[in-house]
Amino acid sequence: MKIKSADFVMSNSNVTKAPQDNIPEYAFIGRSNVGKSSLINMLMERKDLAKTSGKPGKTQLINHFKINDSWFLVDLPGYGYAQISKKKRVIFQHFIENYFKERKQLVCTFVLIDSRHDPQKIDLEFMQFLGENQIPFCIAFTKADKIGSSKINKQITSYKKKLLNYWETLPHSFLTSSSTSLGRKEVLDFIENVNTDVADDFK
Ligand code: GTP
Ligand code: MG
Repeated sequence: MKIKSADFVMSNSNVTKAPQDNIPEYAFIGRSNVGKSSLINMLMERKDLAKTSGKPGKTQLINHFKINDSWFLVDLPGYGYAQISKKKRVIFQHFIENYFKERKQLVCTFVLIDSRHDPQKIDLEFMQFLGENQIPFCIAFTKADKIGSSKINKQITSYKKKLLNYWETLPHSFLTSSSTSLGRKEVLDFIENVNTDVADDFK
C-alpha cells in the first residue's frame, strides 16, 4: 500500500470523544517503550508523527492518525510502566479498557512484543483480555535489529511455541524494526487486505 497522507487528528482520554468517522481502525498497544510510536512513524515514513522517547511512559493518551483519508492508526499509552503513580495507572487502564470495549471501528489490534523477550505475564494477560472481548489481534515483534540474525528466528519460534500453551491457534505475526524498516511492507499489505475484507461493513 502506498501512503499518500498521514494526519494527526486528535488526542484524548475518552473513547466517546474519539473521531466519529466510520472507517476501519488499527490500534497499537504493548508495554511502555516497546516501540509503538516508533513503529507508526516507520510505517508512515515520518520522523515525528507520533511522539517517541527513550524513557517509558511517553504516550499518555489515545492518539488518532488518519491515513490516506480512509483509515485510522491509533497510538496508545503503554501498559506495565511501574514508574507511574498507582492512581494514574488505574485511570490509564480504565480508559484503555474502555477504548477496546467501545470502539466499534476497531478491526485489528497490533500487540507489540520486544523480539528479545520471552512471553511475559502482562502481555499474555492483555492478549487474553482481547480474546475475551472478541477483539481480533496480531503480534508485531519489535526492535528486531537488536538481536543477531542467527538468533532471531530461534527466539521468535520459541515465543510462538510458548504461546501455543495458551492459544489453540497462533495470531498472525510480523517481525519489525523501526530502525531498518523491516516488516513495513508486510504490515501495510496486511492492513490493505483487511481494509478490503471489511469494506462492506463500513458502507
Ligand atoms: P510509550 O509511549 O512510552 O509507551 O513507548 P512506545 O512503545 O511508544 O516506544 P517508543 O516508540 O517511544 O520507543 C521507545 C524507545 O525505543 C525509543 O528510544 C526508540 O528510539 C526505541 N526504539 C523503538 N523501536 C525501535 C527499533 O525498532 N529498533 C531500535 N534499535 N530502537 C527502537
Ligand atoms: Mg508511545
